[in-house]
This record gives sequence, C-alpha cells and structure tokens, in this order.
Amino acid sequence: PAPGWTVEVDAVVVGSGIAGLTAALELRTRVPRVLLVTKDLLASGSTVWAQGGIAAALDPEDSPEAHLADTLVAGGGLCDPRAVEVLVTEGPARVRELVARGAVFDTAPDGQISLTREGGHHADRIAHAGGDATGAEISRALVAQIEAVRDDPGIEVIEHALVLDVLTGPAGPDGRPGAVCGVTLHVIGEGQRDGVGAALSKAVVFATGGIGQVFRSSTNPPLATGDGIAAALRAGAVLGDVEFVQFHPTVLWLGSGVKGQLTLVSEAVRGEGALLVDTDGVRFMPDVHPMAELAPRDVVAHAIVRQMAATGSDHVWLDARHLGADFLRRRFPTINERLLEHGIDLTTDLVPVAPAQHYHSGGVVTDLVGRTSLRGLYATGEVACTGVHGANRLASNSLLEGLVFAHRAARHIADQVASGVLRHADPVTRPGSEALVAAAARSRVQRLATDGPGVLRSADGLRRAAAGLALVPTDAHTRHDDGRLLAVPQVAEWETTNVHQVASVLTATALAREESRGGHARSDFPEPDERWRLRLAARLDGDGRL
Ligand code: SIN
Repeated sequence: PAPGWTVEVDAVVVGSGIAGLTAALELRTRVPRVLLVTKDLLASGSTVWAQGGIAAALDPEDSPEAHLADTLVAGGGLCDPRAVEVLVTEGPARVRELVARGAVFDTAPDGQISLTREGGHHADRIAHAGGDATGAEISRALVAQIEAVRDDPGIEVIEHALVLDVLTGPAGPDGRPGAVCGVTLHVIGEGQRDGVGAALSKAVVFATGGIGQVFRSSTNPPLATGDGIAAALRAGAVLGDVEFVQFHPTVLWLGSGVKGQLTLVSEAVRGEGALLVDTDGVRFMPDVHPMAELAPRDVVAHAIVRQMAATGSDHVWLDARHLGADFLRRRFPTINERLLEHGIDLTTDLVPVAPAQHYHSGGVVTDLVGRTSLRGLYATGEVACTGVHGANRLASNSLLEGLVFAHRAARHIADQVASGVLRHADPVTRPGSEALVAAAARSRVQRLATDGPGVLRSADGLRRAAAGLALVPTDAHTRHDDGRLLAVPQVAEWETTNVHQVASVLTATALAREESRGGHARSDFPEPDERWRLRLAARLDGDGRL
C-alpha cells in the first residue's frame, strides 16, 4: 500500500532486543539521525525471555580459543571460523561494556561475575543476572539507556511498528535489486505516525529476532513471526542455513494440546546438576554422549525424542530435587515461579519436559560487519546468519552474537555514511503483486511446519508440508473490481504472510539437505554426510521463485 507518511533518517534499526538496542545506541552518537522501530514496546521481543545467560571467556582460566573450540563442535562442522573468532575474541569486552551500560550480573563473593556452565561448554563461562533472568536485566539496562536519550533529536523511537517491506533504489544493469533505501512500516499509533508509512534511510538494520510462530509451540514470544527474514527474502537478499532450527530440550510439557509460547526450563538447571530421566525413571543421557545431560543441545533434544518413542511417552522428566530447595529457589527464581503457576515445585517435583522450537540458527546471510547481500541492508541477532552457529548454536551464544555483531554493524554503517558510500536514494515503486495470507490460516501453517520441518524430519513429511503450504491461499487482499484495496490488511495478516513464507523456505531447504546434522535431523538420512558439509543458500529469483 502507498505510504501515508514519510520520515527521513540516516539509519533505521528494526527491533529492540539486545541486537537492535545495541545497534541504535552505537549509531546514535555516530550518525546524525537514527530511527528505532519495534513491533511492540521497547522492552518486548525475545531477549527479555532469555534465562540462562550470555557466554564469554571472562574467567582467567578460560580462553577465547576454548570458547571457539566448543562453538565449532556444537556447530557440527558448519560454522564460519572467522565469524566465531570475532565472536569469542570481542565478546568479553562487549560484555564488560554491557556492565558499564548498567547491566547487573550475578557476582561471586569476590565481586567477580559468577559464571556457570551449559550444554556443550567445557568451562564455566555463562554470565547470568537475577539468577535466571539474564535477558530481562540486559533489556532493562539497554532500554533505560534509550529512554535517557529519547528527547535527543538524533534519535526517534516508534513502538507498535511492524516492518512490511524493504525499499530499494533502481536495479542494476544485471537486474539485481538496487541499494536499500528504507522500509515501509505499519504503525498502530496515534498522530503523525499511524497506519502505513515509509522510513527513508541510508542504511537499514534488521534486528527482528526469530521465527518461533512458524511452529505450534516455541519458547519465543508471539511476536516472533520471522518479519525480517521474510522481508529480506522478498527484497532479494540471500538466506543461509535456514534448515537449522534449534529445538530446546527442556521446555515445560503441559500436554500435547498446549501450544503457543511455552515455559523454558533453562539449560543452566542441568548446568547446575539436574538430570534427565525417562518416564520409567531411567537416566538415559550417559549412554548417548560423554557429556551426558550437558551434551550439545541438538544431541540432547534428539536423544529425548528417541527416548520418548522408546517408552511410548510424550515427555521425559527433569530431576533437580537433589540440588536442594534453598539453592534452587535462589538460583532459579523465575523458573521456580513459572513452574509453581502450573502446580509444579522444582524443589520437590519431577518436571515434565519435551523439546520445543527455541532458536533459528540460520537467517539472512551477512559478512563480519553485518552486511547482507543487498547494499544498505544489515542484519544482526537471531535474524542474521553470520556463520557463528553453523548447524547448531552453542548455548548462550545468541545474546553474545547480537551484542558483538550489532556493535560491528553500527560502526561500519557510521563509516560508510560518513564517507558517502551509503546515501539516500529514491525508492523504486515495485508492481503490487505481493502475497497476503489470511490471519485465519496461521494455525494451519503452524501445523504443517511442525509436522514437516519439525524436530524430526523425513522426505515424506517434508513433501506433505510443502504441498500443504503451496495450497494455502496467498491472495487475501480484498479489492474493489477496479483493483483498489477494499480493506487495508492488518498486522495479523502481514505476520501470517511472513510465517507462511518462512515455513515454505524452511521446508524446501530441509527437504534439500539429505543428511542429519545439528538442528536438522532426518529419519531417512540419519547420519551426517561429508558431501553436505556446506551452506545451503536460498534466494528468490526475479519471478519470485525460490
Ligand atoms: C537456556 O537458558 O537454556 C537458553 C539459553 C540459550 O538458548 O542459549
């Protein structure tokens, strides 16, 4: 739809998790005008839900090299070692800067940040806050910094703003998309910035988070509808590693009919010594992996699924009772409280858990400064595919990735704006053939994605999902006979369109990869295959075909 209002800035940041807030704060002092837009309130999104912590080699006994080694192992041979090196070497300094920005981490009696362990780590390197409320504390500190500068003319914040599409300038002679010169937004606000508008800019940073809503159940909040990855795809950007979806092993299981956002029981609970037992009371992880309950996340999730099948159950149990009531209440206050809301006491009860969607390791392909394949479009945080996660993200590397790469992207943009490489361009109007999926189709799409590219995949299931997704009507625009829109689509329809597009790419890439590796497990190709030690890239051609 035609924008009803326009704002012109140097850089637009879309999203207000750790990556978006960091990018906006770094850009604010480096370019004249920054616009930060977020789909809900500033303090919403996935970061606030992060429990376990943020990984960094902060202990003198630890080292970036050891962190690098653990990250590469978890990534199943598909990480980009250069990106991982950036992550682990710059990580400690960025975490200290977070402290300087006001984030309060839990400390040991000697005043040093307390560090714990999670799956796949061979050292204590997870910094945490409020016991198990790390993301909420980081978000609080960064939002406070934004709030403190909100009157500054150099930054504007628009809340309740869904990104619709990327605006591009004239295409190159080879037909490739032109430079990105802004975004269209759907704002549910008041006054000037209400309805569909355009933010014109020299650079756009997508920090839009993950894709949890593609599945029936996820630890992600309802906002995680893959908006950035879908908009980038539509604009012609290259996506990578899309098939690698992380299913968290220990998500509170409340019955197979319960869907939507589910309660995470942090890996840090196992890090402190909790054990997994099946419904016959038998501990099974020691037979699966030398690190037992602290094996990399994909290994634990798949072992749980196999154990559930072997025992004919739809969950296993997490047993933390031996860790002691005082310790558990002090160390995991948030989890304890959330479980008590469901009548489960972490200190005295076994906790029913099963894997559920948690994180998207793939996304919009970027280089080491966050640049995507489209000039002027940057991606950072979960939406990005920097190469640090490969086939499976190491626990607590996600907050760190958002922090490290948002910082790099912001500085790169500032340099490019200052040198005139990134500059304003007039957006080219594209023919209005965009798909629109009715909001009512969302649960059908979620069912198809869960049964197709879910935790355990097969060619048959993926083909069924692809066929079902292809049948979902994508013409939900209601128009007058002369083609004019009868009703402006609302947020739920734009979001469902994004969910459908992400589910479709995910199904196609999962079908293509005929092996099992990291977060991609195929029952028909159960082993990793050296021929598939490569990144699958996905892009739409000029006719909108994948
Ligand atoms: C958790 O607390 O288990 C989640 C940490 C992560 O996803 O890295």
